[in-house]
Amino acid sequence: MDWNLHEAVEYYKRQGAPGNQQTLIALLREMQTENGGAVPVPLLQEAARLLGVKETFLRAIIRRIPGIHLAEGHVLELCGGPNCSRSRALAACAEALGKEHGFTVRYVPCMRLCGKGPNLRWDGTVYHKADEALLRKLAGEK
Ligand code: FES
Repeated sequence: MDWNLHEAVEYYKRQGAPGNQQTLIALLREMQTENGGAVPVPLLQEAARLLGVKETFLRAIIRRIPGIHLAEGHVLELCGGPNCSRSRALAACAEALGKEHGFTVRYVPCMRLCGKGPNLRWDGTVYHKADEALLRKLAGEK
């Protein structure tokens, strides 16, 4: 099953977030783990909105807690599983666009959505049947 910010926030709200800071820290760690090792800024903004807190409050927690990092700029995660990574063309295009537009490209293990591939995740949102046109659109090109 695919990770979902809304479900994660609802789960941590039931555990006491945002009042309980340990629970907020656990949510931020999960956001980081599920998004390639750093918390994407758009995801942080959406989490703040869902939690009813200011983004600066979540940023202050991230600054205070070692091991939690904010990803400045967009994060593109490409599925590196056997089905999705069959064509090197998509990865080559992603890496070229990442350099050109200044976003981070990471490879993640099989997203377990093989029938819908190639799959990628952009700032925490999963896209299926990814192609060069989608990459260019996400990167902000026409
Ligand atoms: S190989 Fe990409 S979802 Fe499995």
